[in-house]
Amino acid sequence: MAAEKKINQPGDNVPRHIAIILDGNGRWARRRGLPRTAGHAAGSENFRKIATYCKNIGVEYLTVYAFSTENWKRPEDEVKTIMRLLRRYLNEAIDTMERDKIRMKIFGDVAGLPQELQELVQKTDEISKHYEGFQANICLNYGGRDEIVHAARRYAEDYAAGKAQGRLSEEQFGGYLYSAGIPDPDLLIRPGGEQRISNFLLWQCAYAEFYFSDVLWPDFGTDELDKAIEAFRRRDRRYGNVK
Ligand code: FPP
Repeated sequence: MAAEKKINQPGDNVPRHIAIILDGNGRWARRRGLPRTAGHAAGSENFRKIATYCKNIGVEYLTVYAFSTENWKRPEDEVKTIMRLLRRYLNEAIDTMERDKIRMKIFGDVAGLPQELQELVQKTDEISKHYEGFQANICLNYGGRDEIVHAARRYAEDYAAGKAQGRLSEEQFGGYLYSAGIPDPDLLIRPGGEQRISNFLLWQCAYAEFYFSDVLWPDFGTDELDKAIEAFRRRDRRYGNVK
């Protein structure tokens, strides 16, 4: 019997840029009688799997929302665990980025992160400059409104210094965002049952297709991602035009 065809393979019409809100780690853990932090550990493992899968099927950019500007309000031990997982993830990624030809970028207010994480971010930026190909963006200490205000401030500084010329265009403004130079997400996925954007990529998701799933993030495997991509393919993207 012929092997069943996987839905997505390189060369298939996959979204160029997928964005995911990592949600449901806490509930995943609670349902198993585990501490919430165990859910974050499972969530970070799942990110690894999904990022590898995205790269293998020809997605060019994967952007995930890992820690928002509001997440500092969580209990101290939970915040510490998330920071520890991120440190571990970035450390391991630095070792394998060259081998796997992966670029990585952190979107967010890096200055507000613990010192050790800031240094790791600098290293991943440095390594990424030498590669082309799949890019993972991790949003850390990130908020969509914060990003827009941050960009506006930087533009105002450039304008005052005579470095920004002409009438500000959308394209020019996009160059001040964390996502400068990266195409907008085609598909935004939110697992975990909620149907909201939670201050994620507010500017960039203007024309993204949204896909919501009740599956909790640690259980959102490659089969779930295939379903999301399949749903995306059935969408009719008009960008305000008519057909
Ligand atoms: C949301 O689930 C998840 C977070 C706020 C943290 C996500 C962080 C990681 C997965 C760790 C490291 C990430 C990477 C990319 C290596 P929740 O806690 O709000 O879940 P709940 O809604 O069920 O409570």
